[in-house]
Amino acid sequence: MAGRVATFRVPAQITCGCGAAETVGTEAKRLGGTRCFLIGDPNLVKVGVPERMVALLKAEGVETRLWTDVEPEPSVQSIEGAAAAAREFRCDLVVAVGGGSALDTAKAVTLLTRNPGALEDYFGIGLVKQRGVPSILIPTTSGTGAEITPNSLFYVPAIKEKKAVVSPHTIPDVAIIDPLLTLSVPPKVTAATGMDALSHAVESYTSLNASPMTDLYALEAIRLIGAHLRTAVANGGDLAARDGMARASFYAGIAIGNAGTNIVHALAYPLQGQHRITHGVANSLLLPYGMEFNALSNLCKFAAVAEALGEPIAGFSPRAAAAKSAEACRLLSLDVGIPQRMREVGIKQEHLADLVDGAMKMTRLWANNPRQVSTEDARAILEKAL
Ligand SMILES: [Fe+2]
Repeated sequence: MAGRVATFRVPAQITCGCGAAETVGTEAKRLGGTRCFLIGDPNLVKVGVPERMVALLKAEGVETRLWTDVEPEPSVQSIEGAAAAAREFRCDLVVAVGGGSALDTAKAVTLLTRNPGALEDYFGIGLVKQRGVPSILIPTTSGTGAEITPNSLFYVPAIKEKKAVVSPHTIPDVAIIDPLLTLSVPPKVTAATGMDALSHAVESYTSLNASPMTDLYALEAIRLIGAHLRTAVANGGDLAARDGMARASFYAGIAIGNAGTNIVHALAYPLQGQHRITHGVANSLLLPYGMEFNALSNLCKFAAVAEALGEPIAGFSPRAAAAKSAEACRLLSLDVGIPQRMREVGIKQEHLADLVDGAMKMTRLWANNPRQVSTEDARAILEKAL
């Protein structure tokens, strides 16, 4: 909304570019770290990335304990284990290198260094009392934007739901974005994480909490994804494409960190919790349908999304131009090999009632949605996506 009071938060320092990860040791030292709990994505061990971080930290005299027991879509139990190890090590700095799961694990471990109790005590918005020890987050996939945002998500097996900790105290002190670290990401993961980033950019751009500041980042993220995701999937060694996607993910993270997500993430979370569909695929499955539903709320913005994705919109009515945005997303996800329908990932008609129930509980996200959504609306959107 024009003129609305908006707060804009990002990490105190963002270091970006090819080779940026080599600064981890000097940044750790600058933050006063002497005992670093390093959370490393287990998938990166074979390419030596966590070990390289250990070497860089040790070269600056920072004693380091490497932890690689990161769970994909981390559960609360996995966080308990990591937090106990960090406490036992008496760390005064947390560094994470990896995908969204490693970074979310780091956010939880960091907050638990200086806030009492269990992670579950902080599920919700603004419940973290104070910042944890300093932290440095280094993403190795281009999608979640977790290195920028105040959000982190955890799976609670007992209720088969993902729960969020949302607090500015969990934004890291330093984010390091190095596209060289994304070169070994396989095509499937590149595609799914890239569609997650696109979802972030589109949802934040059209969020009720969007501001002129977040619009800048969101629209540029959409443009970069339209220009680079296909190449990054087809030829993972293309550094220009990897650089474009690394920046897109980071810009989209800035946009969601300040404007939030809405319809797509709200509908997608139950797919992850109830059926263990990965985050990027779940969002990608719902993205065009959520956009088609929301387009009426702001035809100009949805037309701008279409244009940023490379669709020609000159000569089209606002309604027709806006409709091209969902179609462009559908084509992109098809090109990068992501399933198009929920039935392709095992979802059946009889699952819809529980998916609708789960989605309607995501009140934090619906509050950002530019069009009111009833239970019947959510059901109709999921029917279309089936
Ligand atoms: Fe996401």
